[in-house]
Amino acid sequence: MRKRILTLIAALLFSVCLAGCDSGSADSSGQGSTSPGNTSSSEAEQEEELSSKSENSAGETSTGETSAGGSSAPVFDLESRTVTLNSGYEMPVAGLGTYALSDEECYNSVTALLECGGRLIDTASYYGNEESVGRAIRDSDVPREEIFVTTKIYPTEFDDPEGAIEACLERLDIGYIDLMLLHHPGDGDVEAYHALEKAVEDGKVRSIGLSNWYIEELEEFLPQVEITPSVVQNEIHPYYQEQEVVPYIQNLGIVVNGYSPFGGRGHTAELFADEVISAIAEAHGVTSAQVVLRWNLQRGVVVNPSSSNPEHIRENQDIFGFELTEEEMEQISTLERGEKHEWY
Ligand SMILES: NC(=O)c1ccc[n+]([C@@H]2O[C@H](COP(=O)([O-])OP(=O)(O)OC[C@H]3O[C@@H](n4cnc5c(N)ncnc54)[C@H](OP(=O)(O)O)[C@@H]3O)[C@@H](O)[C@H]2O)c1
Repeated sequence: MRKRILTLIAALLFSVCLAGCDSGSADSSGQGSTSPGNTSSSEAEQEEELSSKSENSAGETSTGETSAGGSSAPVFDLESRTVTLNSGYEMPVAGLGTYALSDEECYNSVTALLECGGRLIDTASYYGNEESVGRAIRDSDVPREEIFVTTKIYPTEFDDPEGAIEACLERLDIGYIDLMLLHHPGDGDVEAYHALEKAVEDGKVRSIGLSNWYIEELEEFLPQVEITPSVVQNEIHPYYQEQEVVPYIQNLGIVVNGYSPFGGRGHTAELFADEVISAIAEAHGVTSAQVVLRWNLQRGVVVNPSSSNPEHIRENQDIFGFELTEEEMEQISTLERGEKHEWY
């Protein structure tokens, strides 16, 4: 308990300090304009936007109200389906992950996402499908500026991060990269992050961040870098909720992006059949997948479920027309069992 209180005090002091540094780094990065973000407004207008009043985990509403202690937590605008990053750019709050998708599946999935109004695509050099992501984007009718692409460089690339960044830019071939993450901690990660900072300065990358960084790792890493990460992407699903890590990151003004929202391939069946999730789904006339995604959004967590099935991709975007009650959010929070599926 004492350790937890000390950690919270340290987090608070750290967050105040970062808020001061942050404005300086944003200026020096030359960022300030806001990308159009997700613009599926006609679809959004047709739906009942109950969601725009919902609260995220930081106790903030999309109208910009803040609760005590959560002054800098990012605010989701569920009407525009975006969140403004600390870099000044807008990021869609629901998209598509592409891990384990073959080139053809990836091309088709990205195409399906863009056709149904989704604008956030998550890839990585490690996934080997950046070329397909780029090709699907170039072949679509959607203007580049409306699309938000995240990619990542892997620890095995940290010995030549500049080369790794250039290789991502070449493979994607979509001009700039919206968000580039370090895939997970490893030797040379601070230097690799400095290369990301330089890429921001050079206008090659708009926002930068980390993946698989938790409280201790962030406490050690952040004092060594200039630009506060815009996003931290970590594993998050009802059986692994990161109940302390999520608010810790959000209170630093950093957006949390959950990966493997359904537990990851091979783990989805049990989650979708979960009695609590299924009952909530039935009550709202939606699917278990939609309940899980909606739960994330109401905690202020960006989602990018992976799918090779266009129907699933459409379903995963259709999460803005219903709202989970506080009681339902509470019920899902009791499903936590510390069951992490990724090794890092
Ligand atoms: N940063 C990291 O270290 C890291 C690690 C893992 C993942 N990620 C990112 O997070 C993304 C998502 O995670 P993930 O791929 O591990 O797993 P996931 O999104 O939790 O689960 C994917 C599985 O869910 C199924 N699915 C998707 N939508 C569905 C729906 N509406 N109904 C029923 N089944 C559905 C998919 O099958 P179908 O294809 O049949 O739809 C697939 O088997 C990845 O693609 C990647 O972009 C990042």
